[in-house]
Formats: sequence, C-alpha cells, structure tokens
Amino acid sequence: MKVFIVKDYDAMSKKAAKIVRDAILRKPDLVLGLATGSTPLGLYKELIRMHKEEGLNFSKVITFNLDEYVGLPKDHPESYNRFMWDNLFNHININPSNVHIPDGTVEDLEAFCKWYEEKIDEYGGIDLQILGIGRDGHIAFNEPGTSLGSRTHIAKLTEVTRRDNARFFDGDIEKVPKYAITMGVGTILEAKSIILLANGEAKADAIKKALEGPVTCLITASALQLHPNVTIIVDKEAGSKLELEWEREY
Ligand code: F6R
Repeated sequence: MKVFIVKDYDAMSKKAAKIVRDAILRKPDLVLGLATGSTPLGLYKELIRMHKEEGLNFSKVITFNLDEYVGLPKDHPESYNRFMWDNLFNHININPSNVHIPDGTVEDLEAFCKWYEEKIDEYGGIDLQILGIGRDGHIAFNEPGTSLGSRTHIAKLTEVTRRDNARFFDGDIEKVPKYAITMGVGTILEAKSIILLANGEAKADAIKKALEGPVTCLITASALQLHPNVTIIVDKEAGSKLELEWEREY
C-alpha cells in the first residue's frame, strides 16, 4: 500500500491526475473505473485541463462507474450518470459507447448487476480504479457489513450516507434514494490498480480505520489492505489521525 499525505485538495487531485495520465499514455485503451461525489471533482478538472492543454487523448479509454442510485432517471440532476457527463465526459473526447454507468431504472436490477460484471470481464477487467471513501468507511456503496467478497449488487444506503448526500437533494434526506446499484468489494479488489482519495477532517476517522485498523466488513475500505497495488492519496486533514510513518509531501 502506497500512502501519500499531501498538502491540500489541489495537491491530492493533481497527484492522482498524473497517475491517471501516465496510465493512459502507457495504455491508450485503459479500462478506467470512476467514482462520483465531491472528492474526485478536482481530479476530473485536472484531467479536463490535461485534455485541453496537453492533448491527453481519451478516445480509446473505456470507463466503468462504481455506482448509481436506484430509481433516478439518467438525466436527473443528481443521478451519477448526469454527474459524470457534467463534470468529465462532456469536456473530454471520450467515445460515449465506451462509457458504462450502472442504470438504476432497469426493471430487472439483478440481471443488470450480472450484466455489468460480465461487461467488465469482457474488457479484461478494470486497469485503474478511482475511489473515494464515505465517513462510515464505505467504498462505492459498500456500506458497513457488506461482504468483502461481494460482486455488483443492490445496496441499501445507511442513514449516515443518506444524510451526507442530502446536501445534493435540497438538504432533504427523504429525497435521497434508499438503494443503489454498486460494484462489490470483490469487484473492486479485482482492479489491477486502485487509487483512493480522501480530503477533509470529516474523513480522518474513516482513513485511520481503513489504513491502520483491522480488515473488516465494518469498514469496507479496509479490504484495500489486501490489494497488491493500491495508492492512497489524502490531504493533511484526512490524514491527521494516521500514526504510521507514511510518506508526507508537504
Ligand atoms: C461515489 C462513491 C462513494 C463516494 C463516497 C465519498 O461514486 O462510490 O463511495 O466516493 O461516498 O463521497 P464524497 O466524495 O462526496 O465525500
């Protein structure tokens, strides 16, 4: 596990963007796993800049998003589909047919989950997966108690997560969907390499438990300790409770 504690959000985002850029330069048809939420916004902004100013080419890149709310239409302002197009895909030269985001509106959600797993396999698996972390230690929507071997499935969101995400739904927790389609922890662990990002004090406990606590389904991010190629980049605040001698870049 490579862990970098960097100065701030900007440094975290730029460091992650360089890793993504180098991976695309090495493999133009990179299979890239993507996350939504506040954390990767700076990374996406930097990737857009690299595309516009440095010609970073996404035309062959294949993407798979981690998750999507059940029941939100694709064009709903808070759907993860909309988030990805607004914050990244509309600003780079991605081929729309290379974009994969779970569809929370399909009738047969179970069949969709199976199809999503098969699709990832068809492309030879995810080369590089981007992750954020929830305050309860979740990765994707794998809430506490989710099996560390889980595959893409329907997840019930915890109260903590729904409260955290209410900020995007007029502050009203009742408007936050109760279920989501999510890649499982087992699916994520099969990615060839993983970057987990975290910023801000609110993530300090989750980062401490995920990196320096036992591997447990109660903090699903702790499963990353088992992965051979993980890079964790956190800002000073998110890393403020870490005690081991990790790399400090500030
Ligand atoms: C989003 C996702 C979630 C978020 C996590 C942190 O696709 O999978 O696990 O990464 O909830 O969200 P933010 O970044 O908004 O704090």
